[in-house]
Amino acid sequence: MKQHPQSCCLLLSLFAIFASARAFDYADALSKSLLYFEAQRSGRLPYNQRVTWRDHSGLTDGLEQGVDLVGGYYDAGDHVKFGLPMAFTITMLSWGVIEYGEHITGAGELEHALEAIKWGTDYFIKAHTSPNVLWAEVGDGDTDHYCWQRPEDMTTSRHAYKIDETNPGSDLAGETAAAMAAASVVFKKTNPHYSHLLLHHAQQLFEFGDKYRGKYDTSVGVVKSYYASVSGYMDELLWAALWLYKATDREEYLKYVINKANCFGGIGWAITEFSWDVKYAGVQIIASKLLMDQKLQKEQKHILEQYRSKAEYYICSCLNKNNASNNVERTPGGLLYTRQWNNMQYVSSAAFLLTVYSDFLRNSNQNVRCHGGVIVTPSELLNFAKSQVDYVLGSNPMNMSYLVGYGPKYPTRVHHRGASIVSFREDKGFIGCTQGYDNWYGGTRLNPNVLVGALVGGPDCRDNFSDQRENYMQTEACTYNTAPLVGVFAKLNYLDKSSLIASY
Ligand SMILES: *[C@@H]1O[C@H](CO)[C@@H](O)[C@H](O)[C@H]1NC(C)=O
Ligand SMILES: *[C@@H]1O[C@H](CO)[C@@H](O)[C@H](O)[C@H]1NC(C)=O
Ligand SMILES: *[C@@H]1O[C@H](CO)[C@@H](O)[C@H](O)[C@H]1NC(C)=O
Repeated sequence: MKQHPQSCCLLLSLFAIFASARAFDYADALSKSLLYFEAQRSGRLPYNQRVTWRDHSGLTDGLEQGVDLVGGYYDAGDHVKFGLPMAFTITMLSWGVIEYGEHITGAGELEHALEAIKWGTDYFIKAHTSPNVLWAEVGDGDTDHYCWQRPEDMTTSRHAYKIDETNPGSDLAGETAAAMAAASVVFKKTNPHYSHLLLHHAQQLFEFGDKYRGKYDTSVGVVKSYYASVSGYMDELLWAALWLYKATDREEYLKYVINKANCFGGIGWAITEFSWDVKYAGVQIIASKLLMDQKLQKEQKHILEQYRSKAEYYICSCLNKNNASNNVERTPGGLLYTRQWNNMQYVSSAAFLLTVYSDFLRNSNQNVRCHGGVIVTPSELLNFAKSQVDYVLGSNPMNMSYLVGYGPKYPTRVHHRGASIVSFREDKGFIGCTQGYDNWYGGTRLNPNVLVGALVGGPDCRDNFSDQRENYMQTEACTYNTAPLVGVFAKLNYLDKSSLIASY
């Protein structure tokens, strides 16, 4: 363990955290979480594919438009490739590796984490066909949702949609730039050529998004009922600039974040959720971490302090330490509760941000000051993040792990086309759209394939969960639910092991 002034208290407090609770196997959760990304793969699967109930699919994606869009990820239980959530997934996986790569390596999972990121970034490289053109989506939600088919049988529309100079999408370009910049940091040492290529794309995409301003859901109307960008594009442009600053250390990106802090809402928006749509809390937390940099000018520091104040509003809201009306709700069982549909995405992203912020505070020897001057320590942040992860893994009123395939009890009827139908590898007989609905979707039969590592939408506001395929609000999983947990599992696994050593 790294030595610093607090290390004796750190060990004691960590021991207290881990001595009190039921033990979870975070290493197992970490391995499983990375398997999930293999189940979501679109395109030609590689020889070392470990999720063997899946096979090649989407092999003509982009053909209609004369562009190779084979690859990437299906976003959830359907087969649309939605650019915005896919990019956010890759940004979060990359951020996890940047913060906790050492612990992921320690658990023997680095190779899998890098593969999960590269499966996304390889696709973004294909989708970014010229400086000001980015393919935003393949397939469309409407035709896809009339159909219950395995991806290997897919007969739905594979029409591809793009953004360009006349049909801008600054949010999508910004998030994809962020993902590629973050991934370029990840691959800097192990694959410098690839890292450089990603950075080049990231810089071009950021310029494109910044120069041709607009919301992508205006340009790509079909995405509106599925992934409309409610928060607009300003958060993504700040987010992209921050990631480019981390990747290049170039002053121009820091200047962007400082100069646009006010007009882009970076220091204006106090927000209690962090998601594929709303990036402000992530922006504010990364901006806060820049305060550790010694070479800042006074005015820059002043602006970053304002970002930090908003970051701490988010942190305090998760800890129930803002004033009454500004906290995230909790279920009676203690789970953060933001909304009915796919609530777990907000839980996993909060667990990640709290863990990262806890490290920042510990490394800079600071605490958070919440409403009324209440002091919160880094251990309290980590402890709370751990309580959320433990809830996810089974410490909850249903005794259910919401991470599929983990522990003795987990969702068995995940709302997922591929997992709910016999594996294509076992039975290659074609299954049509309505045939899938008639023979596989309904009823109480268990899914024939276990979607290991998927984090489902999770329980309702009273901790109740109904394990039915039709109950998509609770039983559907998304790639961006699991992505933030990868780094957190690795960190908790590392601490778990260290505290065992410390207790001897
Ligand atoms: C809570 O805090 C907000 C912002 O700090 C303030 O506007 C609001 O009046 C406060 N509400 C209560 C009930 O104290
Ligand atoms: C969960 O486990 C506890 C302790 O073993 C038990 O008392 C409770 O009835 C269980 N709840 C459910 C919903 O299975
Ligand atoms: C929990 O959900 C089940 C299935 O929908 C329902 O029958 C039950 O009444 C619910 N329980 C509570 C406490 O809401």
